[in-house]
Amino acid sequence: MTDQIADHYGRLAATYDDHWAYDPEYVRAFTRAMSGALRLHPGDAIVDVGCGTGLYTRQLADDVAPLRPIVCVDPSAAMLDRIPASPSLRPVLASAEDVATGRVSLPVPGPVDAVLVKEAIHHVSDRAATLRGLAGLLSDHGRLLVVMLPTTIPHPLFAAAHERFEQLQPDPTEIREALVAAGLRTSLTHRTFHVAIDRERYVRMLESRYMSVLGEFSEDELAEGIAQFRHAYREDPVLRFDDHFVFLRGSVPPA
Ligand SMILES: C[S@@+](CC[C@H](N)C(=O)[O-])C[C@H]1O[C@@H](n2cnc3c(N)ncnc32)[C@H](O)[C@@H]1O
Repeated sequence: MTDQIADHYGRLAATYDDHWAYDPEYVRAFTRAMSGALRLHPGDAIVDVGCGTGLYTRQLADDVAPLRPIVCVDPSAAMLDRIPASPSLRPVLASAEDVATGRVSLPVPGPVDAVLVKEAIHHVSDRAATLRGLAGLLSDHGRLLVVMLPTTIPHPLFAAAHERFEQLQPDPTEIREALVAAGLRTSLTHRTFHVAIDRERYVRMLESRYMSVLGEFSEDELAEGIAQFRHAYREDPVLRFDDHFVFLRGSVPPA
């Protein structure tokens, strides 16, 4: 993890969950979509890589009631510290690369049945090698799900933030190719979650740089972007947009 990303999440950790707490149904619906795609059941050994504060992992644990704790992997101590103490969640301070290369061993006795990587793959530098390493941890019926934004998004960001996002966000087809190269059977589907959010709440989210792309801008550039945002949405006290996600599922093929 670069220093810039570490600083970004170090600052964001305390408010991360609040940004989405206004709509618990968003987190519930999103989590249902992920556990459905991964076909999770209580006997699975589950790992959430880049779990952040565990906002979604907690919901997964509530929904699936796993017999063993879900392993929550994240390289940001600040994010990981927000995970509540729970017998269903086992935090591990590590990056996806650490786990994929075996530099950090997972606290599970055998292979893993399900790996989730939600909105973290863009932070991984060697994505093909890391996904290959993660796929290598899977059991003979193992599944891996990468959840990511597409390269263009309808979020009400300012123009420079959209441009920067498009430059930085990896192409989902690159991730799919990496999963295929890792020997997994893959599927790529699109999921949409509707967002309705008060404009002033969204301003606070922009101010706190709730998306890592906003960390690319200086204080002055961000203030200018927010001024442009306020002007563009001056007639809209509530912002409504469709949040599109790509779900890339890989599964171990039958022997
Ligand atoms: C946008 S947050 C997503 C957190 C969580 N998955 C969620 O959806 O709420 C991205 C997370 O990826 C983590 N991260 C950054 N670099 C990473 C890496 N190399 N390997 C795994 N996670 C990483 C960050 O610390 C952060 O917690």
